[in-house]
Amino acid sequence: MSSWLKIDNLNKHFDGVKALVDFSCSLDKGEILGLIGPNGAGKTTLFNVLTGFIAADSGSVVFCDVYLHKKPAHRIANLGVARTFQDLRLIKQISVLENVLLSFRKQPGENLANTFFRAGRCRKVEAENKDAAYSILGKAGLAEKTNSLASDLSYGQQKLLSLVCCLVSDADLLLLDEPVAGIAPAMIEQILSIITDLPKQGKSVIIIEHNLEAVRQVCNRVVFMDAGEKICEGTPQEVHNDPRVIEAYLD
Ligand SMILES: Nc1ncnc2c1ncn2[C@@H]1O[C@H](COP(=O)(O)OP(=O)(O)O)[C@@H](O)[C@H]1O
Ligand SMILES: [Mg+2]
Repeated sequence: MSSWLKIDNLNKHFDGVKALVDFSCSLDKGEILGLIGPNGAGKTTLFNVLTGFIAADSGSVVFCDVYLHKKPAHRIANLGVARTFQDLRLIKQISVLENVLLSFRKQPGENLANTFFRAGRCRKVEAENKDAAYSILGKAGLAEKTNSLASDLSYGQQKLLSLVCCLVSDADLLLLDEPVAGIAPAMIEQILSIITDLPKQGKSVIIIEHNLEAVRQVCNRVVFMDAGEKICEGTPQEVHNDPRVIEAYLD
């Protein structure tokens, strides 16, 4: 049986920089794959290619039997691929709830004809989205912050909110770029427990993270990359014990 997500021989150069070099990897449904490697290894570039933010020079990506290569970002999002960003990209001047509501994929009110001719249906979906937003904000421990401006949240809470926004897009494949970097240990546990639950909801995850302990806790499998290349792959233990990984993380 073919893999659910299959990445084959991706190459991406930026002028002289080789960001991806014959990078191949696959993911099965329900897996949580860790992607580790030093700064500049090409991890975020891989996410940019998978989500259609940039096009690879060569290689292919097949997700649920559909070629993603050269598809625009909005088509890929509609196929069920969502991501978070290292720099969060929340809308800071609006409330926590409004950030979440903007992230739902099902928004009939975005279509002007719908707002005129199917106003009842629009209101129903909006009410459903609002209920779902309250529920997920509650589970994430952000219930009391629902009406706060996103800018008033702590950095850890903002990271949690960006994860919530990614989750409500209802995507099957979630690409999380450093979800626990730079935040306090208590908040890390909260974020990791949300991530650990995702396979039970039929979701698969690729998580970029420098925190190797977090990777060990949540990932079934880990890929270590450097200078655009996959250097090794295996269980978290196997990868952590690889001399090339130890050397990179001791530097
Ligand atoms: N849009 C871009 N334009 C030019 N160079 C880029 C761009 N995106 C990434 N790079 C370069 O590609 C390499 C890999 O970057 P990146 O994928 O962000 O690494 P990582 O996420 O592993 O830290 C780096 O040398 C970076 O400077
Ligand atoms: Mg990065």
